[in-house]
Amino acid sequence: MTARNMSSTALLTELEPTVESNLNRHLHTAKEWFPHEYVPWSQGTDFDGVLGGQPWSAEQSTLSEVARTALVVNLLTEDNLPSYHHEIAVLFGRDGAWGTWVHRWTAEEGRHGIAMRDYMMVKRLVDPVALERFRMKHMGEGYQSAHSADLVRSLAYVSFQELATRVSHRNTGKFTDDPMADQLLGRIAADENLHMIFYRNLLNAALKIAPDQTMRAITDVVKTFQMPGTGIPGFQRKAVEMAVAGIYDIRQHRDDVVAPVLRFWKVFEIEGLSDEGEQARTELAGLMEDLEKQALRFEDKRDMLRARMAPR
Ligand SMILES: [Fe+2]
Ligand SMILES: [Fe+2]
Repeated sequence: MTARNMSSTALLTELEPTVESNLNRHLHTAKEWFPHEYVPWSQGTDFDGVLGGQPWSAEQSTLSEVARTALVVNLLTEDNLPSYHHEIAVLFGRDGAWGTWVHRWTAEEGRHGIAMRDYMMVKRLVDPVALERFRMKHMGEGYQSAHSADLVRSLAYVSFQELATRVSHRNTGKFTDDPMADQLLGRIAADENLHMIFYRNLLNAALKIAPDQTMRAITDVVKTFQMPGTGIPGFQRKAVEMAVAGIYDIRQHRDDVVAPVLRFWKVFEIEGLSDEGEQARTELAGLMEDLEKQALRFEDKRDMLRARMAPR
């Protein structure tokens, strides 16, 4: 048999009941929290400029350079929320359960950038002028998803991406060696996990409605996956630094992000696929093997680098 692809519009309608039940589940599970509670305001002082306070300098920051880089990358990624909102508002629509999710998700994500920026400014963790210039540049360019017009591909992408963001925030928190930062980033990571669960459940429903089309979408997304922060100035170098530090590397990407989500969808157990669906699945298995090889290579290289940098 051959696969028949459903349009995004038809799938939106088919998935609406799943969106509604998962929205209710999400609203029930998500705990209200307040960014201001996570910020040690008493440690803050005025900056130079309008208020004539003390300018920022690197020795005020209690963090290593890599920890600062990771915080900046994670914050700038959160900052681009207007672009992400635009992407999903256009694709999911603003009506019914889909629309309620779009707005609720946006409101939750809005908290992340607010909390992180407040914390980083009060503790003088990063250069506020450089950060603001980065933000202007990054948001000025906006973000466009590679899957804008395709509902199933977008759902597959955000399932992985929310989990990737969770891993990145959580590991950045640990890496700062700053218990308060860790607490805040852990709180944000918990939100990202709930977002992942929402999208993962939707894609799971899509797999039942249109298995072959969804399998192809998963394969294509795993093949081309890129973090949403790719447009950040100097992103490639920053991503390498973060990988070497163990904040987000190819091993974590494969084992902690892609593999568990694929396992949840039972992609390698589903029966009754068409030839096209089977072909996509075979390709996906090959991609997972490639990722394994890349992860092993990366780990070897990192071990060598660490041995070279270790104090004798
Ligand atoms: Fe977020
Ligand atoms: Fe999220």
